[in-house]
Amino acid sequence: MALIDDLRSIEERALAEISAACELEALDAVRVGVLGKKGSLTAVLRGLGSLSAHERPAVGKVSNEVRATLESAITARKETLSASALADRISAEAVDVTLPGRKRLPGRAHLISQITAEIIDIFVGLGYRVAEGPEVERSYYNFTALNHPLTHPARAATDTFYVMEPGSGPIEPGATTDVLLRTHTSPVQIRVMEKHKPPVYVIAPGRVYRRDIADPSHLPQFHQIEGLAVDAGLTFGDLKGTLDHLCHELFGRDRKTRFRPHFFPFTEPSAEVDVSCGICEGSGCRFCQNTGWLEILGCGMVDPNVFGHVDIDSEKYVGFAFGLGVERIAALRYDIPDLRMLVEGDMRFLRQF
Ligand code: PHE
Repeated sequence: MALIDDLRSIEERALAEISAACELEALDAVRVGVLGKKGSLTAVLRGLGSLSAHERPAVGKVSNEVRATLESAITARKETLSASALADRISAEAVDVTLPGRKRLPGRAHLISQITAEIIDIFVGLGYRVAEGPEVERSYYNFTALNHPLTHPARAATDTFYVMEPGSGPIEPGATTDVLLRTHTSPVQIRVMEKHKPPVYVIAPGRVYRRDIADPSHLPQFHQIEGLAVDAGLTFGDLKGTLDHLCHELFGRDRKTRFRPHFFPFTEPSAEVDVSCGICEGSGCRFCQNTGWLEILGCGMVDPNVFGHVDIDSEKYVGFAFGLGVERIAALRYDIPDLRMLVEGDMRFLRQF
């Protein structure tokens, strides 16, 4: 019978399409094409009414069989496809729990901040207070009140960064109103003594600026710590004892100090202080350039001319002062060959401290 042949060929084609469907949407399109309202099997069933009474049962039976077969084939295929879709998703979204995690390193203070804090602690332990002053400073505080003559070479625009006057270009060095980036922390001495009468015991940490090209031993911006003591009856021996204590705390009890005569405009007498080399213990090596000593700071007794600028009676009071470079202390303590490493921000280096 022609109709039964049609049904069988619909079944055969649909079964082939069902097993060929690779995605759930494609499978559903096959289902609609055969079993849907306008599907091929549905069309055949609609025609059943026009058959003769003795043909109808046989065709009806086959079409029911075909429908049942196709429905169960679709259900089976659907299960297979959804299982593999799930498997695909699971493998695409898989997390490899055996991969090592990303380490989050705890933050910490930069080496320069650490050493600054350590030196402040040493002096706070001796009764000093912390003082601060501006980094953008008047030349009066940076030079004039510190007894630098107008002709002093450090005032030159080749050595010092002068700040531009708005609209008019750089100010002439030596002008009474000129503004600069402080070249040392010593102007804080003046600012402290203007405000506070003796006894004064202060430590002043901060950034300073010089027109140097960065190289292994120079940075155009670095850090200093200034110390100032003004009291009745202070002597050079007090200065020596204070700085010996500082060296022992910073570098160790076994290290020695040496005071070499030097010159600073604002102290008289003045000295540079060396600490014995920690590598050769004074016998001479490459680290100390065969001298056995490493220079660590400048110091001296406050010059009476400086007291004159801040109205302190130099007949009644004596002062001592010192200034050290924090980067230099760091380099000496940790044998850092190039000061630029301290500002380059390479964590492989900085993490060590
Ligand atoms: N200000 C001097 C410098 O930068 C150091 C110093 C400070 C010297 C205090 C004597 C007294 O070189």
